[in-house]
Amino acid sequence: MTDLYAVIGNPIAHSKSPFIHTEFSRQTGQAMRYEALLAPLDGFAKTVNAFRQQGGKGMNVTVPFKLAAHKLVTQLTERASMAQAVNTIKFDEDRILGDNTDGIGLERDITNNLGIPISDKRILLMGAGGAARGVILPLLEANPKILVIANRTKSKAHALHQQFAAYGKLASGDFADLSGENFDIIINATSASLHDALPPLPAGIFCRQSLAYDMMYSQKLTPFLTFAQQQGAKYLADGTGMLVEQAAESFFLWRDVRPETKHVIELLKLST
Ligand code: ATR
Repeated sequence: MTDLYAVIGNPIAHSKSPFIHTEFSRQTGQAMRYEALLAPLDGFAKTVNAFRQQGGKGMNVTVPFKLAAHKLVTQLTERASMAQAVNTIKFDEDRILGDNTDGIGLERDITNNLGIPISDKRILLMGAGGAARGVILPLLEANPKILVIANRTKSKAHALHQQFAAYGKLASGDFADLSGENFDIIINATSASLHDALPPLPAGIFCRQSLAYDMMYSQKLTPFLTFAQQQGAKYLADGTGMLVEQAAESFFLWRDVRPETKHVIELLKLST
């Protein structure tokens, strides 16, 4: 029996998830098929339910449906509940489980693949939208010295600060508040790179050991990574590793088997 999985989004044609999960299933010998599913913008729940009726076992959820998925599931993991977004659904007989593997994907990429420990580091997270909210809990669970959330609209950074205050050492503000500070790890979770824009980071924010991490993945350096390079950041990374690691965690939730990721990251980098 071949089990059926899918990534659902709109648009979806560009998604790399079918490639990644097909590699995982080949590598681990799991009998499964994974496809891309386009849902109408007003038809998310209907498309999910039809897929389940056809025997679907699980789904990845991407833009713009992560909030809708959070509402649709019948049970949430803690990290999905705190993220207020679901990127992974697992169908069981009597429940629809919603998880969010984005944050652990980012944490594993930084720690395991890039080999940079988060523990005791000063971290700057730029942005306060869904992408930022999804990664805060796993970052705090890795015990940074401090996690600073900076956002153009300051009130949104403060709101996230309050929401996660019990989970670790946090600070929040806008970009002007960062003047005179520097960080070991600087993560871009804004949508600025999508518009080829650079968040208004003050000069001097990077130190010689800094990692600049853009959660977006693209063929060429994003404006943020170009700025980081010019400013002397030691390590530059885009979101390719995070994408593969979040997929691996979803795969593990569904199949109880942990795929090897480094080779898939290499393949993906070659293909883009
Ligand atoms: P996502 O789900 O991708 O996080 P979102 O919820 O629309 O998308 O959030 C986009 C984030 O990128 C916000 O934090 C936004 O800042 P504001 O809250 O001030 O709008 C941030 N953002 C978008 N373009 C930006 C830019 N050019 N410079 C800095 N921040 C930007």
